[in-house]
Amino acid sequence: MAQLSVNINKIALIRNSRGSNYPDIIQVAKDCERFGAQGITVHPRPDERHVKFSDCYDLKEIVTTELNIEGYPSEKFIQLIQEVKPHQVTLVPDLPDALTSDNGWDTIQHESFLKEIIGELKKTGARVSLFIDPIEQLIEGAAKTGADRIEYYTGPYAHIFPENPEHAIRKYQMTEKFAHQLGLGINAGHDLNLHNLRFFKDRITHLEEVSIGHALICDSLYYGLENTIQMYRRCLD
Ligand code: PXP
Repeated sequence: MAQLSVNINKIALIRNSRGSNYPDIIQVAKDCERFGAQGITVHPRPDERHVKFSDCYDLKEIVTTELNIEGYPSEKFIQLIQEVKPHQVTLVPDLPDALTSDNGWDTIQHESFLKEIIGELKKTGARVSLFIDPIEQLIEGAAKTGADRIEYYTGPYAHIFPENPEHAIRKYQMTEKFAHQLGLGINAGHDLNLHNLRFFKDRITHLEEVSIGHALICDSLYYGLENTIQMYRRCLD
């Protein structure tokens, strides 16, 4: 059964917009877990417009499920991981000013860079996952870096899904067995929502975890956070 990790970056964005501590993301993280989240994901970006680097230390103290920290492996990010020691680190190839992650790693071009960093990060005890497009050569490259898992970039899936779900899922279906045979665990994230999540989960047999932020937080404006988390959980059950 795939686990639901709730990305709380958008909660931090609302907090930051007023310069106070409301909503309190620590309380929200605790509540997400109470409502059924099986993990909490944060993505501290260089400009700290969402979650701040300092938030990660506080979250580690209270998250009782799985803390997943995503980010580009800058020196500052690596130091953060070494100090916080989250359960999982997801490395993304984002440029410093990226609006959101919009592509996976080129694991062939960056193999030695990733190998070295992953070696360092694994010393903290964290599981390391690489954000990846569903392409065999890149997945093979991910295995060579020593990563434990890949996180499929599902933006293109979500984009094509409303028009043609079978076409949208094809590349993921074609590559997941290969990834599994290489010993890589499979996560997925980006633009997953209540419409496209179940279809994805039903067809990606080895899916272990999804991290969902934007749509889940938007849905919670209408349904409430507790109901919404339960609705997403039901798509995965
Ligand atoms: N995975 C990665 C690597 C991301 O950067 C993001 C967005 O922060 C997500 C998953 C979650 O995407 P969404 O907010 O669209 O659910």
